[in-house]
Amino acid sequence: MIKVNDLHKTFEGKQVLRGVGFTVNTGETFGIIGKSGSGKSVLLKHLIGLLKPDVGEVWIDDKLISAMSFRKLQRVREKIGMVFQFGALFDSMTVSENIELALKKLTKLSGSSLNDRVTESLASVGLEGTEKLMPSELSGGMKKRVGIARAIAIKPEYMFYDEPTTGLDPVMTDTINRLIKKFKTDERITTVVVTHEMLTVYDVVDRVILLHEGKIQFDGTPEDIKKSDDLVVKQFITGDSTLLLQESR
Ligand SMILES: Nc1ncnc2c1ncn2[C@@H]1O[C@H](COP(=O)(O)OP(=O)(O)O)[C@@H](O)[C@H]1O
Ligand SMILES: [Mg+2]
Repeated sequence: MIKVNDLHKTFEGKQVLRGVGFTVNTGETFGIIGKSGSGKSVLLKHLIGLLKPDVGEVWIDDKLISAMSFRKLQRVREKIGMVFQFGALFDSMTVSENIELALKKLTKLSGSSLNDRVTESLASVGLEGTEKLMPSELSGGMKKRVGIARAIAIKPEYMFYDEPTTGLDPVMTDTINRLIKKFKTDERITTVVVTHEMLTVYDVVDRVILLHEGKIQFDGTPEDIKKSDDLVVKQFITGDSTLLLQESR
């Protein structure tokens, strides 16, 4: 379970989070949406302890990670598979070396069990036989999938995805959405997906929050967000830029 209480974060005078709180139950798939710059990645980085809040708390399984030392955080991170927005693969390493690096850092695997885990995780995202390729030889969709394979390889209890489908064509978007759904049922994983694709919200998540001006503008199911009368919500999901004209005048 993840519990976030009254999170505040300011960078150089810019208030990015102004009192954000929510709970994600075990096994749930939770979406975080909001326009570019609304603080989605900043929020996700708080969930893995990469950023510390100015005010507020982040709990993961009864552990207060917002106040944890780096050494203790390492143990929590062993439970979290993180898929970064820009893939974050090391360009000078092969696909398998990229995955091995994460496995060596976050698990005790070595030797043939390490190699087996690499093979298994690549197969689970449909990338059998790509072990020796360099990231530069991969398409955008393949890079994303290697990023997912690397995250799932540690057999995490939590999977966090930052914009897993941004910049991909509709078919690859569907492939990634299916993988997110597959890992959630296969492994009973608690999942957090940051996205600005409504298709991912409708197709994948159980519950979604919309970040707006540092606060939660909406918190509910994908069904509810479709029915919302809130103008900020409507503008976000329809992309109709004229809806808020009167308010901003
Ligand atoms: N480390 C940082 N230092 C200063 N400003 C930051 C930092 N990280 C994020 N920001 C700012 O916080 C705001 C929210 O960023 P981000 O969470 O990346 O937005 P998004 O919703 O697009 O993921 C942006 O204005 C960004 O410039
Ligand atoms: Mg972001």
